[in-house]
Amino acid sequence: MKCLVTGCAGFIGSNLLEKLLGEGHSVIGIDNLSTGKLDFMSESLNNNSFKFIKSDLKDINNLISKIEDVEIVYHLAANADVRFGLNNPSRDLTENTINTFKLLEAMREINIKNIIFASTGSIYGNTNEIPTVESCSFPSQTSLYGASKVSAEAFLSAYCEGFKMNAVSCRFVSLLGPRYTHGHVFDFVKSLIKDSKELFILGDGKQYKSYFHISDCINAIMILSKNLIDKTIEGFLPINLGTEEGISVEQSASIICSVLNKKPKFVFSGGSRGWIGDNPNIQLDISRAKSFGWLPKKSIKESIEETTLWVHNYLVKNI
Ligand SMILES: NC(=O)c1ccc[n+]([C@@H]2O[C@H](COP(=O)([O-])OP(=O)(O)OC[C@H]3O[C@@H](n4cnc5c(N)ncnc54)[C@H](O)[C@@H]3O)[C@@H](O)[C@H]2O)c1
Repeated sequence: MKCLVTGCAGFIGSNLLEKLLGEGHSVIGIDNLSTGKLDFMSESLNNNSFKFIKSDLKDINNLISKIEDVEIVYHLAANADVRFGLNNPSRDLTENTINTFKLLEAMREINIKNIIFASTGSIYGNTNEIPTVESCSFPSQTSLYGASKVSAEAFLSAYCEGFKMNAVSCRFVSLLGPRYTHGHVFDFVKSLIKDSKELFILGDGKQYKSYFHISDCINAIMILSKNLIDKTIEGFLPINLGTEEGISVEQSASIICSVLNKKPKFVFSGGSRGWIGDNPNIQLDISRAKSFGWLPKKSIKESIEETTLWVHNYLVKNI
């Protein structure tokens, strides 16, 4: 099968790339390397079945001839960091919504019908429905990131309706695992390398969230894309992906400190949220994903431990 992966040099994209190539698929990858790294694709770049195009997704229109015979698109390229949206209010709109629209237009022009989209549990805002099911009503958006992803989903569903496309929108909780380069584990490990006496924690540390491991994420994407290709999923389908457990930020910080054998004093910024737009309670209902035969295998604790070691090695090599 010939696939297109946007954001192929990022955390999720580079792991997906390896899986697709490992299963014998042929892959075209597009990335502008804004947060992605060539290093993350070092193995894949040696594979003849992989063609890397360094380009911004906004220019997808110029690449039409290169992607004509693609059967499925894995659309991961985005601004993936939810926290800094207010510093640059047009970024999420441009990177996440408008670029998704441009990609859909390119797909329509050359009749590519199937797309897996990287959405997020952030779109549920501060819902009171925990665990949250896909059909819950979204009270309001709390971040520009969430707003950009929900808008992108709206375009996806309208293209499915209007142009008979098929789309799975994967609403991920935060991911952990090798090549993770943004989020609280990264920040805590970085801060502990600098100063192991104090660890500054945003909020009161009681924010309680679910996380899941990149290997479980990639397995889910593979199962769902097979269902798209086999036409057992048609039209637009949002699917929550995460684990059925959760952990507080403070518990998570304790695991990280114990892996690194550090005993800092925890200093909290205070308040129930880490930052404006933070959703302090995230737990998604994953029954729909399980109905496709998928189950997450790694616990949150295992994922935090593994990620702490990976990030520590990465930072020590790259600082
Ligand atoms: N990692 C998570 O916890 C998480 C959770 C929910 C949703 N998501 C979504 O999953 C997707 C992948 O996230 P990630 O964690 O791998 O992030 P990442 O930043 O590691 O990967 C994104 C990749 O897209 C590339 N990119 C960004 N803008 C681009 C553009 N305009 N043109 C071409 N390439 C561009 C970056 O260089 C990077 O390689 C994103 O859409 C993100 O919103 C991630």
